[in-house]
Parts: sequence; structure tokens; C-alpha cells
Amino acid sequence: MRSFLKGELKRLNILEGSVRSGKTYISLILWAAWVLDSPKDKNYLMTAKTLTSLKRNCLELLEDLVGTENFSYSLTKKEGLLFGRKIHLEGVSDLRSEGKIRGLTLMGAYCDELSLFTEDFFSMLLSRLSEPGARLFATTNPDNPHHWLKEKYINRAGELDLKVFKFLIDDNSFLPPDYIRELKKEYTGVYYDRFILGLWKAAEGVIYPLFANSPRDFIKEVPPEIVYATIGVDFGGNKSAHAFVLSGFTRGFKEVVILDEFYLNGVLSPAQLEVHFIEFVKKSKEKYPVFEAWCDNAETTLIEGLRTAAAKENVAVDVRPAIKGNVVNRIRLTNSLMSHGRFFVLEKCHALIEALSCAVWDDSSHDDKRLDDFSYNVDSLDAMEYSIEPVMQA
Ligand SMILES: Nc1ncnc2c1ncn2[C@@H]1O[C@H](COP(=O)(O)OP(=O)(O)OP(=O)(O)O)[C@@H](O)[C@H]1O
Ligand SMILES: [Mg+2]
Repeated sequence: MRSFLKGELKRLNILEGSVRSGKTYISLILWAAWVLDSPKDKNYLMTAKTLTSLKRNCLELLEDLVGTENFSYSLTKKEGLLFGRKIHLEGVSDLRSEGKIRGLTLMGAYCDELSLFTEDFFSMLLSRLSEPGARLFATTNPDNPHHWLKEKYINRAGELDLKVFKFLIDDNSFLPPDYIRELKKEYTGVYYDRFILGLWKAAEGVIYPLFANSPRDFIKEVPPEIVYATIGVDFGGNKSAHAFVLSGFTRGFKEVVILDEFYLNGVLSPAQLEVHFIEFVKKSKEKYPVFEAWCDNAETTLIEGLRTAAAKENVAVDVRPAIKGNVVNRIRLTNSLMSHGRFFVLEKCHALIEALSCAVWDDSSHDDKRLDDFSYNVDSLDAMEYSIEPVMQA
């Protein structure tokens, strides 16, 4: 705000840093003040990954901050009015948004979570900011240091008429200390470095640092009371293994306990695979309430085979294609469960225990990827995630 009052804003103003550090809040106040101070008859744009996230993160808050008499909007019209200035609203993932913006001449733009935009969209947006004195305001969390935003813009702040404002979580004095303490526990490894410390760090080294450092903290000999359990299935290929994982949940989904596994690194015929699967399901159902098996959805014919086999053998299990959400989110879920003391593995699940200890990031990649070069067992991890994922959604 001081930069604004002193006339020290740049053409591009990027607020970056930790989660919940106050970037969105203050950037919206700044945006509103700057728009109020700018010409009435020009075009302005507010954009986020999707219109829904724009509304959730920014529009509702902006409305609170300046009052409905000063800001109103319609998502269907994709337009708002801020202090009498017309604001275009766009979601970047909306395919047609690029075409629409291409025709605009902009005085100002506000971007929420800029690192989620494509580089193409952003450079096109910059070319539209062509009114004299035009400005861009953006917030973002740090990502990989090779991210386009970091390499091509933030690192070149000096040459580009760009100013970076760094935000750290402990700077936000509006959050209760207890809340911050809990939030810090949510993140481990590279995510701690990025989202808590606000650093642009590559994902490298072990993926499950808490587990890798001290596996025994997560290993149980006997399971607690399990109220619900699911099976995850990853089919093997040329070099990869077949893996089934049985995950159990305690009352209220408080704890996740990996109860059993099947792991076979070798070639199986579809018929042999079915025999192993039926045996695994039968064994699981004897001890736990299991009703679903979530299977690698790349293999529809194998899924169909398991389904038929289960019906023929009278085994009541719903064989379904896995949700297969973004792998980074699946990893974050496991890590978050671990840091809250809600994740355990039974001692007998040797393959999975080894996989959790050995899993590493692919540091040759420019975005976050789990190393998948057959040097360690990714299959058990996939199967485990397929079994937990549906509960995460619930
Ligand atoms: N200047 C402020 N005055 C009052 N409350 C604030 C202020 N800054 C932040 N807050 C409060 O702190 C919370 C976090 O702020 P905000 O959402 O702006 O963080 P952020 O850095 O955008 O987080 P994220 O990276 O998760 O998007 C908000 O819910 C808001 O209520
Ligand atoms: Mg924000």
C-alpha cells in the first residue's frame, strides 16, 4: 500500500509467498484502490484458473471489502462493476477466454494464483495491457524454480519493470497462532519449503520424508478397529509389478491403516491375475468390511475380467475404475495424514513399507513428478493411493 501511495508500483506487481500469508487480502485492497484511482472508461480484467475459483478466492472477498454498493458482478455475464469501472471476469482454463481477451485493450489486470496459468496465456495477457500506465497485479505461491513465471519473469524483475512483494505466513498477524501451528504440520518436504517458507524449491529427494526418516513410527503389528476398508489395484506391465493394497479406516475416518498387500513382479496371464485377485478379496472380506476395489483405469479389459471373475465366484465386491486424481495431490494427502499421526502400515506389508521409504522425486523434471524408472516400487504406492483416494473425496 505504501508503494501505491508513493507512486512506486511497477507495470507488473507480483505478491508471492507462503499460504495464508495475506496476499489475496491485501492485493484486493490494492487493486480496488488502484482501480478507483484509474480512468473510468477503460477495460479491466480479473482472472483465475477458473471462474469458480475466481469467485471463491477473490470476488466474494472483494465484495466484502468494498461493499456491494461499490462492487457487483455477474458470473454468467462474466462482468463486474468496481467503483463504476467495467471489470471483465475470466477463467484461464476456459478455452474460449484466450480468444476473448485477445481482442481487448486493457488498463489493468488482476491474476489470482498466477503460477497455475499457462505461459502462453500470460504473455498474451501482457500484450493486451497496452494502455499508458497499465498495470498488472498478481498473487502466487512458489513452485518449481524452473517454472516459467520464476525463470522468465521474477528472476528478471530488474530488467522488466516488475516488482515482487514477498509474503511469509508468520507476517500474517490476523491468524490465531494455533491455526498457524496446525497449518505448518500439513506440509512436509518440498511443500513445507514452498508453502510455509515461501521458497521456490524443486521437488527432489525423498517423497515421504517423515516415513523415510523413521518408518517404525508408522508401523503397527496389530490393526485397530476397522469400520470400512477398500482395495486398490495396480496392474503390472512389461517391467512393472502387479500390486493390490487393502486400506482400512477407523471410526470417523480418523486413521488410515494399510492392512494387507499382494505384490508380484512377474508376468501373469489375465486368468492367473483373476485367481490372485479373488483370493485377495476373499481373504480381506473374512476380516474386514470391504465392498469396493479401485483399479488402474488404463486397463479396461483387465477390470472387466476381475468383475466377471468376482461375479462367477460370488464375491461381493464392486470392481471400479480408480479416480486417479493428480499424483501430487495424492502424495500431499499421504504426507498430511502422516504428519497428523493418522497413517499406519501393518508390519507384514513389506513391499509397501519399502516403497514408502524409497520413493523419490524425479529431479530431472521441471514439474513435480515421482521418479518412475523402475528403480523402486511405484506400483504399491499407486495401488495404495487408488484405495485411499475415494475416501479423500468423500
Ligand atoms: N490485512 C489483513 N487484515 C485482516 N485480515 C487479514 C489481512 N490479511 C490477511 N488476513 C486474513 O488472513 C487470511 C489469509 O489471507 P489470504 O487469503 O489473503 O492469504 P493468501 O496469502 O492469499 O493465502 P493463499 O496462498 O492460501 O491463497 C484471510 O482469511 C484473511 O481473513
Ligand atoms: Mg490467496
